[in-house]
Formats: sequence, C-alpha cells, structure tokens
Amino acid sequence: MQETVISIQSAEKTFPNGVQGLAPITLDIFPKERISLIGPSGCGKSTLLKLIANLHQPSEGSLSWWNKDFSEVGKENHRLSFVFQEPTLMPWSTVRKNVRLPLDLEGIAPAVSEPRVQEALKVVGLEHAAERFPAQLSGGMKMRVSIARALVTRPNLLLMDEPFGALDELTRNRLDEDMANLCGKDDLTLLFVTHSLYEAAFLSTRVMVMAAHPGRIFAEYEIDPAIPRDEAFRLSDTFAMICQDLSKLLIEASHSSLVAKVA
Ligand SMILES: Nc1ncnc2c1ncn2[C@@H]1O[C@H](COP(=O)(O)OP(=O)(O)OP(=O)(O)O)[C@@H](O)[C@H]1O
Ligand SMILES: [Mg+2]
Repeated sequence: MQETVISIQSAEKTFPNGVQGLAPITLDIFPKERISLIGPSGCGKSTLLKLIANLHQPSEGSLSWWNKDFSEVGKENHRLSFVFQEPTLMPWSTVRKNVRLPLDLEGIAPAVSEPRVQEALKVVGLEHAAERFPAQLSGGMKMRVSIARALVTRPNLLLMDEPFGALDELTRNRLDEDMANLCGKDDLTLLFVTHSLYEAAFLSTRVMVMAAHPGRIFAEYEIDPAIPRDEAFRLSDTFAMICQDLSKLLIEASHSSLVAKVA
C-alpha cells in the first residue's frame, strides 16, 4: 500500500444547525505534494482543512493520517502544523520567544530548542529581527514569524488557511518562493487555502477547485512538480496558461455553485 499523508474516505460535514459544510469527499494526499484549495466563499475550504487538522470531526466517513489514526500523529516522523489566517502572536514576547512557544509547551530544554528556533528564523529570513516585539514588525514579517513558529516543530504536513491573504503582492510572491524552496528541500507536504489563483499556480503541484452548495471538489488540476518555481516561471507562458486554465475552472465552479443554490 502506498503511504498517504492524508486519506479521506467519503468524509462529509454537516454542522449541528443543519448546514452541510461539505458533501462526501474522497481524497488521498501523498508525501511532498503541495496542494492548494481554491473556490468561491463558503465552498468548504476551511472546513476541509479543519477536518484534516482534526479540529472538526466528520459527520460521516473517515480520515487517516499516514495510514493511521489521529492519535498517532506527533509520533515518529508524523507531525502536523497549522498556520492560521491571522498571525496570532503574543504581543508581550519577542519574535524568538513566539517562535519557541510550541517547543516550550512540549517542555523541550532551551539548549535543544534554541538551535531549532534559529533554523526556523533563518528559513523565513528573520534572524535579524529575533529580539523585536510583534508591534515592531510589518504585516509580512508577522506572518513570517507565524510560519517560523509552525516550522519549528519540523512538521511533515503543513496546513495553511489563506496565510498570505492580507499581504501586498510583492511580499506574498517572496513568501510563495520561500515556501516552494522549503518544500523542495525538506520532506514536507503542504496543503493550503488561497483566494489567489496566481498563488495556487505558482506553489502547487495539484490544485483542488471546490464548488459550493454543497461544498465539494469540483475539479482537480495537476502542475508538474519538476517545474522550478522561481521568477522565470512566474513570467513564463506556461504559468500564464496554467492561470488561464484555473481561471476557467474557477468560473465553472462558481456557476455550478449558483445553479446548485437555485435548484
Ligand atoms: N461552525 C459552523 N456552523 C455552521 N455552519 C458553518 C460553520 N462553519 C462553517 N459553516 C458553513 O459551512 C460552509 C463552508 O464554510 P467554510 O468556512 O468552510 O467556507 P470557505 O470555503 O472556507 O469560505 P471562505 O472562502 O469565505 O473562507 C458555509 O456555508 C458556512 O456558512
Ligand atoms: Mg475559509
């Protein structure tokens, strides 16, 4: 059996108030994939991410993590981190202490945690700002602290819900490149929600286009993992073609959501 990072078997989510957040979804996610979820508002992107993070339980169907139960996550090389839309930093702590928090909570001694904090800060290019407080950082820097805090646990699966949504285009491009490099080097699987099809086209190896009413996967779009994700790719005809394809799928998904709502 091929190892999956996440295997979702006919999982659906109906909330206690009767709203069907997600119709049954079946999806396998494999090591080192970079999957983006795009789709109209309310199509269940966050709900799907929360099912995968075990923050929601499916009403029907099941999920497995590395072919095991969620209780096994955190053991061996099976770690999961979540980056929320807002950086949610502790304002009274320095960047270094904010990043170290997950390791402090695990009771890991500073002698062990400090080099890992340093490594995570280096990845996001914030070594120089380690002693600053959140109020002294720009929006993009705060988001990078939040990503460093997720990386410090050395996750094998990183879940991100619109992490760069509030950032300007250049900062966002820079972070997208950082993430692409990071995933290339490490044994990291990435699943992220974005409203930007350019971001999806740049970072992903597979794009899941979702539709609403009910929330579901409408289409899948594969992007060759071997394409180097750099500035040249962003300016290439291939990139323009991928964006065009995704744009069409997104329009079809939106129409399908409206039809389903009216019907
Ligand atoms: N806790 C909840 N209780 C009831 N309904 C919910 C709850 N959370 C989400 N929903 C509903 O489930 C559906 C999917 O919501 P979800 O937040 O997953 O959408 P989304 O695709 O992330 O949207 P957005 O792009 O606006 O963030 C929506 O109809 C939403 O109103
Ligand atoms: Mg959402």
